[in-house]
Amino acid sequence: MTVTDGEEFDKMHGSMFVLLRRFIEHDYGYSGWANLTEAAGIPNPSYQMLDMYPTSELFAILRAASSISGTSEYELLEKYGEFLVPDLLLVYKKYVKPEWRTYEMLLHTETAMHGAVKLEHDRTTPPKLLVTKKGPSQLIVDYHSHRKMAGMAVGIIKGIAKYYQESDKVTITMLTPTNAERVQIKVEFEY
Ligand code: HEM
Repeated sequence: MTVTDGEEFDKMHGSMFVLLRRFIEHDYGYSGWANLTEAAGIPNPSYQMLDMYPTSELFAILRAASSISGTSEYELLEKYGEFLVPDLLLVYKKYVKPEWRTYEMLLHTETAMHGAVKLEHDRTTPPKLLVTKKGPSQLIVDYHSHRKMAGMAVGIIKGIAKYYQESDKVTITMLTPTNAERVQIKVEFEY
């Protein structure tokens, strides 16, 4: 047994994989998805929305995309996070309050959004996000997950700002190194 054994069995919700496929096909086309999954050693995966799949497969596909495109794995993870926001918000729209904008969405993600994910699918383990108000125009997002996917967290924040057409009002600064289990992200708002 090695210390990584537990992580090899880690699984994530099917929505993450269905949307990964949509993201890859958007950039690389249908044959791109087939080639990348083949290169990742997972030929013809049939990811379904309501099932669970190994997190290692998601990383293997992103790694294959990175080596073919020359884009770093971190950047791909971020782009993927940004890409999936509109679909995620569509799937979980009943938990989104119409008056929310980027600030409120971030403030309520842990209780309302990831809370809903855990309620609807009890095998899921979304990351812990401790979001703290620092005055009226700043939030600190404290990301905590053994999966070390903070790049995706940054992408999701960018995607949410884009969704609410607030990209020009939102500034994201990493306060700690990104490739860690615990990462602090500062989000400033020009409201
Ligand atoms: C806005 C609505 C959101 C929805 C509906 C949503 C939904 C989900 C779902 C379904 C998963 C998969 C969980 C699993 O299978 O265990 C997930 C994972 C994740 N979420 Fe969210 N999420 C939202 C917002 C956010 C925000 C605002 C952030 C970051 C600031 C974030 C960061 C992540 C990350 C990084 C993961 C990957 C898993 C990990 O790091 O452990 N999410 N989310």
